[in-house]
Amino acid sequence: MNSQSPSPKRQKFSHGNNANGMDQSEKLYQHRCSLPIYTARSKLMRELRKNTSSIVIGETGSGKTTQIPQYLLEAGVCKGGMIACTQPRRVAAISIANRVSSEMGVNIGEKVGYCVRFDDTTSPETKIKYMTDGMLLREAILDPKLLRYSFIILDEAHERTVHTDVLFGVVKKAQKIRAGNDHKSLKIVVMSATMDVDHFSQYFNNAPVLYLQGRQHPIKLLYSHEAQSDYLFAALVAIFQIHQKYPAEEDMLVFLTGQEEIESMVRSIKEVAMDLPSDCPELVVTPMYAALPPHQQLKVFQPAPSGKRKIILSTNIAETSVTVPGIKHVIDTGKVKAKSYQPGSGLDMLKVQWVSQAQAWQRTGRAGREDSGSCWRLYTENEFARLPANTVPEIQRCNLANVVLQLLALNIRDVLNFDFMDPPSKESLRSALDQLKLLGALNKENNKQLTSIGRQMSVFPLEPRLSRVILASAHHGCLEEILTIVSLLSVESIQHSPHNKREAAFAAWRKFVSSEGDHVTLLTIYRAYRGVKGNKDWCFDNFVHQRNMRHAIEIRTQLRGLCVKANLPLVSCGQDTTPVRKCLVQGLFMNSAELQRDGSYITLDRKQTVSIHPSSCLFQCKPAYVLYNELVQTTKCYMRNVCVIDPEWLYDVAPEYFRQRVSRTR
Ligand code: CDP
Ligand code: MG
Repeated sequence: MNSQSPSPKRQKFSHGNNANGMDQSEKLYQHRCSLPIYTARSKLMRELRKNTSSIVIGETGSGKTTQIPQYLLEAGVCKGGMIACTQPRRVAAISIANRVSSEMGVNIGEKVGYCVRFDDTTSPETKIKYMTDGMLLREAILDPKLLRYSFIILDEAHERTVHTDVLFGVVKKAQKIRAGNDHKSLKIVVMSATMDVDHFSQYFNNAPVLYLQGRQHPIKLLYSHEAQSDYLFAALVAIFQIHQKYPAEEDMLVFLTGQEEIESMVRSIKEVAMDLPSDCPELVVTPMYAALPPHQQLKVFQPAPSGKRKIILSTNIAETSVTVPGIKHVIDTGKVKAKSYQPGSGLDMLKVQWVSQAQAWQRTGRAGREDSGSCWRLYTENEFARLPANTVPEIQRCNLANVVLQLLALNIRDVLNFDFMDPPSKESLRSALDQLKLLGALNKENNKQLTSIGRQMSVFPLEPRLSRVILASAHHGCLEEILTIVSLLSVESIQHSPHNKREAAFAAWRKFVSSEGDHVTLLTIYRAYRGVKGNKDWCFDNFVHQRNMRHAIEIRTQLRGLCVKANLPLVSCGQDTTPVRKCLVQGLFMNSAELQRDGSYITLDRKQTVSIHPSSCLFQCKPAYVLYNELVQTTKCYMRNVCVIDPEWLYDVAPEYFRQRVSRTR
């Protein structure tokens, strides 16, 4: 697409009327006009206006996500309805909304806002709403026709997260219903930098595909000569090779797999950097991962001070969702942390695995957005050739209990035949239905309707088992405690164990340890934290991760709000935490294990041999029966977040289920 177009609307800065503010406004305006999408503006608007659904393809950084919603608003095609732009990741939704509000010269929450799990900044004034696809799904439960929206932009469509895939079907259905009667029509725009266009177009009723011309400068591609056994070490070596060879203003982007790995790499880089010759430029190392708080995420967009080199250590979030300017060198470890479903254990596991070729090419592309660049693949050309061409959609590799709960809450009863773009196996859909039935969420007569418990569960943005635990706690008189535990389980660990101070950390935690297990231990830490009003020195001395704790407290506030709305009694059980463990059993009884004579454990559900994770406070103990939150597979299969339980409780909550299982082994 390429045709001349009128300028984007020039906005006055409403906050910061000083000279600086005006400069910034002018700069942002110039930036908007310089984006590749700018020249295609009128033609693009013509097409989007004309088509019921459109597919927009354009290189990362061409301006799709930040500009198209603004163009639509400026062109006045929304007729009172809002423009939703969905993102698979909360970081992207937040950072893009912030960017667009600056470009428009408004505060966040005015014309532009974002809505992500546990944080909604929109107001009645909001016209452009960046949101996670999960949040739009929740809205669809209350309003299946999505009548507040005139345009729904499904962004990053290639990511194919579970939520995106379900959303495709839900939005498509809403569009169809709205076309069939007097409602205002709903327009759908599907966007991506890369995808199987025909497949998408077919699914969206043969929607036309609009290609945007992007900028792509030549990229020098380098492969490892031999396979690397330790990709982290290989990355560290590559970082310093590049650092010592190339000018300081050439920034680096390194793809790693997760928060812990990234934080430990930040430390390694700093350590190595101390031994560099003094004429070597300084380094500014910036992490980027989904759980990073918003003000820290913004750091990746800030240029390094002159003479210093910026190194961004990112998860696959920087593949397409977040565009970072200034990148000249990309280091691709070829690895990503992704969900994989173990039909055997019935559980989702996050595992480090190889990327697909499509992902590798996206990563490479990040080096050539502004100028020519280079991409260092830390694997051999042969290894690359053996990678799968495309990533398997998440819906085909995860536990579907939540998806099915959401579909049923949307009144979509025939989940086995829902219009999925790539349907998951009937077997995994059935196993999700079974799990919901066990949790008491499904009507026993027809298995197609939610019970009142199921309906209440669907209100919480949590996996169904945890929602069930919350509901149980309202009856057991310990909702306050359960809210704390569930919130603490929803963030990365609140226990901070720096790699060179593990012993000291363990010693500090000893006073919090409960013989009842990790859940009650977490509760004790939280109570102590509250007792000292979150004192910073206390956190430092006790190896409590203050940032993660604060995040957990925010989540708790949100969940508490949902409980108030649902009229659940906000009660506390005080010091006797037995009810807390009983509630955990009510939702997580499928995750229980029994001690064996040889000291190992066997799960009651699938008879799998497992062990207590070394990070658990019960690691040295051998309780006869335990319950766990998740299994992690490393050298062994470990239970993480473990709680001591009484086997009687298992029979109390699911008599039939345990009778079948225990009689099978005995
Ligand atoms: O969606 P697409 O990848 O096509 O591009 P975009 O997210 O709309 O970003 C367009 C440009 O805006 C990027 O190349 C960045 O230069 C800039 N941008 C930024 O500086 N800060 C952000 N938070 C987002 C975008
Ligand atoms: Mg984008």
